[in-house]
Amino acid sequence: MALNPELEAAFNDQVNLELTSAHQYLALSAWLEAEGLPGMAHWMKMQSGEENDHAMKFYQFLLDRNARVVLGSLPKPQSDFDSVTDVFRAALAAEETVTAAINSIYSKAVDASDFASYPLLDWFVNEQVEEEATVQQIIDDLERTEGNGHALLMLDRELGTRLGEDE
Ligand SMILES: [Fe+2]
Ligand SMILES: [Fe+2]
Repeated sequence: MALNPELEAAFNDQVNLELTSAHQYLALSAWLEAEGLPGMAHWMKMQSGEENDHAMKFYQFLLDRNARVVLGSLPKPQSDFDSVTDVFRAALAAEETVTAAINSIYSKAVDASDFASYPLLDWFVNEQVEEEATVQQIIDDLERTEGNGHALLMLDRELGTRLGEDE
């Protein structure tokens, strides 16, 4: 069954939003590396790669459903921040935007009884819970460091150990 035009547009918007998210995470990585936090920069770069993978899941789904992929332009990501905590707060805000977008596509899929979309969207609903929780935990840890350089260094080292999906 073909995707209806409204869902086709919504899935295309989501490809763009995931690519936007990848772009934003890369900007966050660059800021952290320039500030001398290579572990956190590594974590953000891995996250950027994951967001590209997310974009490709929606991209492939569109093609598998015999729909067209139409790529758009990406907004310029925020690249200047007042603090490390603000960087992770920006990441959380971006994830919340993505969660809202996934929920909105889910509503459209339910309205259209487009059952073939459900497994993909269920995967993303779970992924968003996990990603928001992970970023929130890092924000909590950062708030707990309260400017303590040693604690920040420990957290940087910890986040630097993040491995890729297939490492
Ligand atoms: Fe994503
Ligand atoms: Fe994400």
